[in-house]
Amino acid sequence: MTDLTSLSSLWRPEFPGLERSTYMNTCSLGQLSRRSIEAMNRYMELWMSYGAAAWYELWLGEMADARARFARLINAQPHEIAILPSVGVALSIIGSSLDYDHRNEVVITEMDFPTIPYQWMARGEEGADVRLLTSPDRIHTPLQAFADAVNARTALVATTHVYFTSGWIQDIAAISRLAHDAGALCVIDGYQAAGQIPVDVKAAGVDVYLSGGLKWLLGGPGIVFMYVREELIPQLNPTTTGWFAAKDMFKFNPERFIRAEDARRFEPGTPAVAAVYTANAGMSIIEEIGVDVVCAHTKALDADLIQRLRAAGLEPRIPADLERHAGIVMLPVDDPAGLVQGLRDRNVIIDYRPGAVRLSPYFYNTVEENQILVDAIVDVLKG
Ligand SMILES: Cc1ncc(COP(=O)(O)O)c(C=O)c1O
Repeated sequence: MTDLTSLSSLWRPEFPGLERSTYMNTCSLGQLSRRSIEAMNRYMELWMSYGAAAWYELWLGEMADARARFARLINAQPHEIAILPSVGVALSIIGSSLDYDHRNEVVITEMDFPTIPYQWMARGEEGADVRLLTSPDRIHTPLQAFADAVNARTALVATTHVYFTSGWIQDIAAISRLAHDAGALCVIDGYQAAGQIPVDVKAAGVDVYLSGGLKWLLGGPGIVFMYVREELIPQLNPTTTGWFAAKDMFKFNPERFIRAEDARRFEPGTPAVAAVYTANAGMSIIEEIGVDVVCAHTKALDADLIQRLRAAGLEPRIPADLERHAGIVMLPVDDPAGLVQGLRDRNVIIDYRPGAVRLSPYFYNTVEENQILVDAIVDVLKG
């Protein structure tokens, strides 16, 4: 059991926004750190004093740092990491690399973030056929459902590491094995996982793994990292592309397009450099604390919150096996939007999804804040 007080008291001064509200919404947007503020200021200063020279002298180096840092967090290599603006764009690039003639089925679950099914529904005209697996409890999808759905027609299993409306941690190693045994690829959206739980893409054997700055990596919007397994990189030829994907991008040769041999092959164009700076700063905090420590602390806070909700007579929707639960506590209520607004009026920040509110303490939160949150919920619900 981690010491729930010392880690948060050590790190709270790094996040000035925590003084302004009871913030329990990291699964939507992680808090802004002083490091990210300083990094953003540094970026603007460099832009002002170097102009375009900042690209060659500094910004490409900052991108290399970000690739290396994210790679360390998921046990990958820097050349396996592409920098992209969003999961939607990353999936479009992967989606545009596949040929749906021989294998056209894409196995997805209804618990995945909708950008995943939308991507392959939009490719219906190219032949892609979405197999949407249902969840029996709105918490998880049984492994057997994947096993039953994957076959010789499957091009891809595209699903999630930690579900955004249940916090369920999928067994991505088992899912990847099922996909590979059938000759299919396995793409994992780890947006709600990387940073808050340990990730080892090599041990899991996945082909593609995505995460980004927005949430548990504390980097803010505008940046997503896409891992593509080294051996797979040269086999994928995205048609959604641009000059950053060219092997010799600075030769500006319009007559011949030779794709880069590393994951830059999947980068279409100029990235949001400000987001590279803020993400690097956010990830440096996670690295400094250590994912294992962040994870143990966040899980302990979750368990504490669940117990306080139950003590107040509330019934969170969470997995029976807390080992498979990470970071997001769902509380079904009749009027989720009304509850979120009621809490905002009391300066407590959470968010909602259809049918339930989402509560997501992180390592910088405290058990005292858990109680403030529960008291405020009780207060709003009693009307
Ligand atoms: C699991 C998951 N995937 C993806 C996204 C976002 O995708 P995008 O980067 O395309 O906005 C979110 C939340 O914003 C999410 O929770």
